[in-house]
Amino acid sequence: MASGDKITHVGKSSEIEKLCERQTRVIDARGCVVMPGFVDAHTHLVFGGNRLDDFEARARGETYEQIAKSGGGIQTTVQATRAASADELWALAKKRASWFLQNGTTTAEAKSGYGLTLEDELKILRVIRRVGKETPLETVATFLGAHAFPPEFREDRAGYISLIIDKMLPVIAREKLAEYCDIFCEQNYFNPEETRRILTAAKQHGLKLRMHVDQLTNGGGAKLAAELGATTADHLEQTAPDGINALAKTNVQPVLLPGSVYALGSKKYPDARAMIDAGLALVLATDFNPGSSPSASMPMMLSLAVTQMKLSPAEAITAATINAAASLNRVDQIGSLEVGKLANFAIYDCEDYRELTYWFGVPLVRDVFVRAKRV
Ligand code: NIG
Ligand code: FE
Repeated sequence: MASGDKITHVGKSSEIEKLCERQTRVIDARGCVVMPGFVDAHTHLVFGGNRLDDFEARARGETYEQIAKSGGGIQTTVQATRAASADELWALAKKRASWFLQNGTTTAEAKSGYGLTLEDELKILRVIRRVGKETPLETVATFLGAHAFPPEFREDRAGYISLIIDKMLPVIAREKLAEYCDIFCEQNYFNPEETRRILTAAKQHGLKLRMHVDQLTNGGGAKLAAELGATTADHLEQTAPDGINALAKTNVQPVLLPGSVYALGSKKYPDARAMIDAGLALVLATDFNPGSSPSASMPMMLSLAVTQMKLSPAEAITAATINAAASLNRVDQIGSLEVGKLANFAIYDCEDYRELTYWFGVPLVRDVFVRAKRV
């Protein structure tokens, strides 16, 4: 039962019915599964264009790294995003927000990172904020200026790092345009030393950290996330046991992104079982982005988690809801159906929660509610 935007009672129909008053609106979900809205803790929601050419090239056998080296990859999306106006990006983001909602997601973290100039990063972050204000999808913003070195700084890495530290971070922190700072710590992108510098500055500005680490190569990224006190370490496909131990010692939450492994045609999923065994509160997210994971579907991620990473359906759903909410510092508001939390939930046309992870590619979502309002 909900009142205003919050849950007031949770229990059996027979108990709740007794509390109904004349003005109470009853939603009939008999024979259905009702679940908290998914919390997608890693997305790149705002970008221009698409990467259909990369996608087709991979089908011909080229790899993500080869495509990036030959001028495709993130740079293609940076060009298209720079060329797009704020209104154009807003129109695209609004449509994508509806994709998330239609798949049962009610909160999405969203990163900048396809602008790579002060102006273009601000443009993206403002669109992220607008999505949170003007659509039912609630957003949590992350600054990812350190996603790649833009072409104009290819020969001047230090120059781009100072632009991030001296120009971008102060404005973003002052205007409260992001809660988190992220980085792509990877060979040919940002090395561990550059990562330390940028993220130490971000912390000084009061931002918390999420990090792309060990996705394509094991560069000791998990250990670095532990050293820097990051909130999350994301990807972790190549992380070895020592990296997992480092995360466990410092309680850095792993955010696993099976959609990007799948869409890149790789077989190497992160070692989710070892992470759970180490006591870590695993998070599952879509990594929605044009290059490596063009999917806004958390049910698809649940399917991948169970079939490819061997999680139980309950473990996968926990990772997609309450654990994800904790990773966004919102566990008191979202991630489960408990008294006092926001009435963000979805009704699914199935009888057993496990069906959600089982029927892949089948739209089981019947209705989605955000703050007790049907969307
Ligand atoms: O999470 N790894 C870096 N960023 C994205 C991919 C970005 C892109 O290819 O556009 C990711 O996989
Ligand atoms: Fe990502």
